Amino acid sequence: MHRRDLLYRLDLQNFTRELLSLYDELIPTEEEEVRRRKFFSKLESLFERELPGTRLFLFGSCVNAFGVCNSDIDVCLSVDEEEPNKIELVVQMATILESDAMLNVQALTHARVPIVKFTEPATGISCDICVNNTLAVVNSKLLHDYAQIDVRLRQLAFMVKHWAKRRQVNDTYRGTLSSYAYVLMCIHFLQQRRPPILPCLQEMRPTYEVKVGSIRCAYYDQVETLRDFGADNKETLGELLTAFFDYWACQHDYNHSVISVRTGGYLSKNEKEWTRRIGNERHLICIEDPFEVTHDLGRVVDKHSIKALRAEFSRAANVIAFDFNPWATLFEPY
Ligand code: CTP
Ligand code: MG
Repeated sequence: MHRRDLLYRLDLQNFTRELLSLYDELIPTEEEEVRRRKFFSKLESLFERELPGTRLFLFGSCVNAFGVCNSDIDVCLSVDEEEPNKIELVVQMATILESDAMLNVQALTHARVPIVKFTEPATGISCDICVNNTLAVVNSKLLHDYAQIDVRLRQLAFMVKHWAKRRQVNDTYRGTLSSYAYVLMCIHFLQQRRPPILPCLQEMRPTYEVKVGSIRCAYYDQVETLRDFGADNKETLGELLTAFFDYWACQHDYNHSVISVRTGGYLSKNEKEWTRRIGNERHLICIEDPFEVTHDLGRVVDKHSIKALRAEFSRAANVIAFDFNPWATLFEPY
């Protein structure tokens, strides 16, 4: 083996070790899990009392396996009505939470998904509650199920989410991507490795099926049978993170390609009719939602933020390729 390759291999081993120790630090502690569970049962009791007949469900990173320590809690209020007045319910929840002495209660009634945000004073836990967002509950289960197949998905997504937060490219209000979008990018990336590390659950015989409005959500969810799926691929976390940034920095075809976890491959912007700007939706980076297939998770990215985002992908790829201590520089705050 060439000496440079040997050095590079040794570096990668060390890089992986450093990344894995960061991964361990980011995993929520058992204590934190207990605190979250207590918080949620308290919230359930409050809502049983104040909004009888409704139910609360958890979704997002506190149940999808991609929650790092101190992440917020996403809750969905489920009401038994076809078309509830979500804005009114959000305002009503804000009043209830304020009378229960919650802090920083904000009703975001004009967001695409109206929510109420607040912080619990005793634990400092931040929480968002939306109304009847069943698709989010279902896509959280899909993400959770993918995470059970190969631990490298959770490890890779933790690194990518941590990097995105540190480098300030994880804020849909400022035109960059949601955590949900980053996790889908990781799943898609692992479906593409050769040999693949993840299968495409939606292309397999469905063992789970629900209908949300007109959308049929179906996929193979008996993931305990797939634990060896990625065993032929021996890539380490360091290699995968290197390849992930290299892909988004140099290889992705931003002009024509849509990444699709649903099909386990790529679609063209043409076939999705995502070739031009409609209103505020620009489709400069295209990530198809696995169930709401008309929904491009990249639509929030505009002509300024796409530059920032691609510059960050390139920076990450360069840091890993050339920096002496990539694990330190990579996650440096922006
Ligand atoms: N979600 C969605 N569509 C989006 C964004 C989010 O359906 N465009 C749903 C997904 O179910 C996702 C949840 O909202 O799991 C929370 O989204 P987000 O905050 O982006 O992800 P988290 O996994 O909660 O990440 P974080 O730890 O950063 O809060
Ligand atoms: Mg969240």
